[in-house]
Amino acid sequence: MLTHALVFHWDNPPLARKTSVKPFHRLRHDGTLGEMPDPSQPAHIAADSTRYRVAHLREQWYVACRSKDLGKKPLGLTIYDTPIVVFRGTDGRAAALLDRCAHRNIPLSLGRIENQRLTCRYHGWAYDNDGTCVGVPALCESGGGETRRVPAFATIESQGFVWVFASPDVEPTSEPFTFPHLDDDSFGKFTLDYEVEASLHATLENMLDVPHTAFLHRGLFRGGTPNEITAVIRRDADRIEAQYVGEPLPSGLAARILGIGDSGGEAIEHYDRFIMPSISQVEYQLGNSHLLATSVLTPLSDFATRFSTVITYRLPIPHLLLRAVFEPVARRILNQDAWILGRQTQAVRRFEREEYVSTKVDILGPEIWRMLEAAHRGDSAPGPLERSIQLLV
Ligand code: FES
Ligand SMILES: [Fe+2]
Repeated sequence: MLTHALVFHWDNPPLARKTSVKPFHRLRHDGTLGEMPDPSQPAHIAADSTRYRVAHLREQWYVACRSKDLGKKPLGLTIYDTPIVVFRGTDGRAAALLDRCAHRNIPLSLGRIENQRLTCRYHGWAYDNDGTCVGVPALCESGGGETRRVPAFATIESQGFVWVFASPDVEPTSEPFTFPHLDDDSFGKFTLDYEVEASLHATLENMLDVPHTAFLHRGLFRGGTPNEITAVIRRDADRIEAQYVGEPLPSGLAARILGIGDSGGEAIEHYDRFIMPSISQVEYQLGNSHLLATSVLTPLSDFATRFSTVITYRLPIPHLLLRAVFEPVARRILNQDAWILGRQTQAVRRFEREEYVSTKVDILGPEIWRMLEAAHRGDSAPGPLERSIQLLV
């Protein structure tokens, strides 16, 4: 019976839902960062495994929400545990402030938008897009608002997303990520939103990890007879990618969708790519068919990550028909990933520590950590890299 139960759960993990993450009992964490496993070694146990390692990159753009979700009500979120409220203020433009009223610390996300101002629920102090208090309802005299302000976060709305620069009162010198294909009508597209109980790094690693697909997603993607293929790994200052060479069309329902119209026998072009600070791309091309899944991740806290996955595709069948077939499959795959990431985090909590043993086919995870860690420390990015490995998938 036990075996049966295990098999059942293996094949049918409960659906992970868009849930708010339960409050997390913070593990001992002094902010120091240890070494991740060295991917050049066949196997390695992390030296310091008495606590978890999370890199905090605040001088970066992250998605706060989708444009369609920001209406007449302010929305609250956190980025690295910092409470932020986003709202549409002057001329309907998106703005973001620290989610704490200067008067008595009430979350401004409880407030309302009145006369294009974010108005606190308690005494009605009104804030403009820059965080300046421009009205105190019970106060007879005017003026003095400049001393009554809350920190403001730079905000840009682009391609259906509201981006926030995660460090307040800073004029960013960079711009948010631009999605390829999203403005190109020759591509079909749809977006899936998730929240997972996992660190930014663990989530990125999962999205860009090949070997788990044959197990966690068996039947949906890979899991048939393995093939030996080559992965070429390249790193630049702000990104690292693995190009998989010589992989035939994998087995599984999702792969069959990619193979629609394929005459057979052709190798697929497959890239997995990480772009600083929190973007993953999985790209497949087969003949004239092209499928790209770009995920933009927002670290809500050390162990809660929200992401939107934008899937763009050009395949030889009508976009809407493809979406009707493919979206449920993509959702099932992401549900499985969200479920396993939650189990990983719960094990870290239970053991009050994290330990990693890696091999060289853990291709991108340790390298992504190296880049995040360097940025967290203010070190220069790891230098360019190109190497190849063999793996069975
Ligand atoms: S606490 Fe916000 S107006 Fe008083
Ligand atoms: Fe996965």
